[in-house]
Amino acid sequence: MRPEDIIARAAGVLRENDMGEWTRASPTLYPHQWSWDSAFIAIGLVHLDTGRAAGELRTLLEYQWKNGKIPHIVFNPEAPPESYFPGPEHWASAADTPDAPPGPALTSGLCQPPVHAIAARHILRVAEARDRDSAEAREFLEEVYPKLLAWHRYLATARDPEGSGLVTIYHPWESGTDNSPRWTSALERVEVGEVPDYERLDLDHIPDPAERPTGYEYDRFIWLVEVIKHAGCDDAVLHRTSPFLAKDVLASAILVRANEALLDVAEVVGAPGKDRALIWAWIERGRGGLDERWDSELGLCLDYDLRAGEPLAARTIAGFAPLIAGAGSNDRLETLLRVLDSHDFTGNPDLCRPLPPSTSPDDPGFLPRSYWRGPVWPVMNWLLWWSLESSGQRKRAARLKGNALAQLSDGRFGEYYEPFTGEALGSDDQSWTAAVALDWLAAEEMSEKP
Ligand code: SER
Repeated sequence: MRPEDIIARAAGVLRENDMGEWTRASPTLYPHQWSWDSAFIAIGLVHLDTGRAAGELRTLLEYQWKNGKIPHIVFNPEAPPESYFPGPEHWASAADTPDAPPGPALTSGLCQPPVHAIAARHILRVAEARDRDSAEAREFLEEVYPKLLAWHRYLATARDPEGSGLVTIYHPWESGTDNSPRWTSALERVEVGEVPDYERLDLDHIPDPAERPTGYEYDRFIWLVEVIKHAGCDDAVLHRTSPFLAKDVLASAILVRANEALLDVAEVVGAPGKDRALIWAWIERGRGGLDERWDSELGLCLDYDLRAGEPLAARTIAGFAPLIAGAGSNDRLETLLRVLDSHDFTGNPDLCRPLPPSTSPDDPGFLPRSYWRGPVWPVMNWLLWWSLESSGQRKRAARLKGNALAQLSDGRFGEYYEPFTGEALGSDDQSWTAAVALDWLAAEEMSEKP
């Protein structure tokens, strides 16, 4: 496919998944609005329509909880109940918690990595670069700034009562990397109680179960949802009772960069100095927290199991958290780049393309077709590309982008890809895959503008 054909196809995917004021994550597997998917979708969508990209985040933020939490799913009340599990009926009791938005249960009680401020700032940057809709983009930032600040405050307080700089999660779904080996040993320690009978609906859409989490993992996922509902989604209670309690380095790194974006937004909207000082403090604390989680033997950053009181050793893409957070020492950056290029990741000669697998093929938890246990995720390629660019690694970033786009020229816009064969897996026509393709190619188009 030529670049212009990829752009047209990507725009077509986003149109197909456009539900009016929000975008479903994929046509059948994910019929609702997912939090971090939507942020990435806005990053691509802005190249087509500033107002619609702003609307994507606006819709999500309408369902922000009173404590600042942005829910990981906003449910589409029109999606048939047999399309997704666990859907709104399953989360109904969470609607009774005082922090939930009023009305029937339209959200889950979890959250996901905080890409939103990065997306909001991107909307203004693209509008300015394209010399269109800048005033509208600025107004949008004024509208969402307090909501984004409340979201980051929630993460810095309710999700980090220790003040460690790292975000605590109660469920692997909150990491966005559900069945990654990052969480294997913490999940093994979870004792499953009475789980109501449930039916996996994801397997109706993805016929090869090898591409999805296992039954063992799902029993734990569903049990943890029960625990969270039972606690009324109360953060203080969950810190005491949740059998799964972990510091997530990827979400924490994204939060550092999102706080940098929020600082820029604060500047644009003329926010008070005390806000800026607070955001600065969050950034510093976040970088300090990530430093604490550095594993010099693996040359990666590791998540931390608060229940077991030990690091969660696994070679996964989340280990590059300090590269994503940026501004580390040169030594640290060099080590991370060496590991990225090594046999553990992009230097494995059996890979179809030198693109980082979600889990290292050298990790014992690696499975090449299984969701976050090995496949290459285009959206992670985007995140690493963006991080490399901002670390001054232009050439390396360009190589990564070139290979990632070559993968997408199959026109499938897969959710993830088998790392050795390049086969598209999971859902086709995944919105965030289309969005990152659009951002890569549209950005090239803009830089070619006279
Ligand atoms: N990723 C999860 C799912 O597959 C939930 O966010 O349903």
